[in-house]
Amino acid sequence: MSTEGESASQFLSSVAIASGKGGVGKSTVAVNVAILLAQSGLSVGLLDADVYGPNCHIMLGVDKLPPPRGKTIIPAEAHGVKVVSMGLLVGAEQPLAWRGPMLHSAIRQFVADVDWGRLDYLIVDLPPGTGDAQLSVAQTLSLTGGVIVTLPQAVSIADARRGLELFRQLKVPILGVVENMSYLAMPDGSRVDVFGQGGGERLAGDANVPFLGQIPLDPDVRVGGDEGTPIVVGGTNSASAAALRSIAFAVSEKVAAQAGKDQVGSIPIEVIG
Ligand SMILES: Nc1ncnc2c1ncn2[C@@H]1O[C@H](COP(=O)(O)OP(=O)(O)O)[C@@H](O)[C@H]1O
Ligand SMILES: [Mg+2]
Repeated sequence: MSTEGESASQFLSSVAIASGKGGVGKSTVAVNVAILLAQSGLSVGLLDADVYGPNCHIMLGVDKLPPPRGKTIIPAEAHGVKVVSMGLLVGAEQPLAWRGPMLHSAIRQFVADVDWGRLDYLIVDLPPGTGDAQLSVAQTLSLTGGVIVTLPQAVSIADARRGLELFRQLKVPILGVVENMSYLAMPDGSRVDVFGQGGGERLAGDANVPFLGQIPLDPDVRVGGDEGTPIVVGGTNSASAAALRSIAFAVSEKVAAQAGKDQVGSIPIEVIG
C-alpha cells in the first residue's frame, strides 16, 4: 500500500530489485520475474525507478504510455505487465540528472499519480548504487522485500553487499540473493566460469539471507531484452528461462512468508539537495 500517495492504487506486495552495481542484470531479473508472475495469473506492475538509465520499457518492447487522464499517468502494458518508466516520459537521448528533492518527487509521482489499479505485485527496478533513489523508494513504499542481484565475482559482491546492508538499515526485509551470469554452458557440456564461481551463494550465506538461485550467461537473454521479447515469453526450455522460473517461484514464496509478518512502515528521511 502506498504510504504517501493519494491514489486508489493498491499493492498487495512490492518487491525492489537492487544491487550496488550496474550491468549485473537487475532489470533483466525484474522484467522476467514480473512477466512470470503475470503468466501465473497475478496482476503485476513494474515501476522502473532507474531514473538515470531507465530501460525496462525497452526490455518489454514498449515505446510510449497511453494518454494521461488529467494528471493521472496510465501505465503501458506488455506481456501482461503494467509498466511506467522515466524512459517513457522523456526523450531517449535526454540526459537525466537529478537533485534529491526532484528525484524524490518523481518516484513519489510514479507511485501516487499512476493508475496502477489493484496489483498483487509491484516490482521496482532500482538504479545501481546506494543513494537517493533507494532511499526515496523505501520511503514511498512499504516494501515487502528486496532482492539483491550480483555476479559471482568479488567486485560485484562487494557492491551487492553494500546494497544489501542499505536494505537492512532501511528495515526492508531481504528476500534473498540472485546470482546472474553464473557460467557459460559450452556445446560439449562443460561450463566456463566467466565471472568466477559461488560468489552469490557465499554472499547470501555470509549475510544469512536466502540464496534464490543462479542464472547462466545466455546470449538469448540479452537478445530477448534488446528486442522487447524477454527470454521467459513463449515458454522456452532454455536453462536461463528455467532458472528465472525457479527464481520467480522462490521470490513468491518469500513474499508469501513475509505476508504473515508485520509490514515495515515508511522510513522518515530528510531529503537534502
Ligand atoms: N544471464 C544473462 N545472459 C546474457 N546477458 C545478460 C544476462 N543477464 C543480463 N544480460 C544482459 O546484460 C546487460 C545488462 O543487464 P541489465 O539487466 O540491464 O543490468 P542492470 O539492470 O543491473 O544494469 C543487458 O544487455 C542484458 O540483456
Ligand atoms: Mg537496469
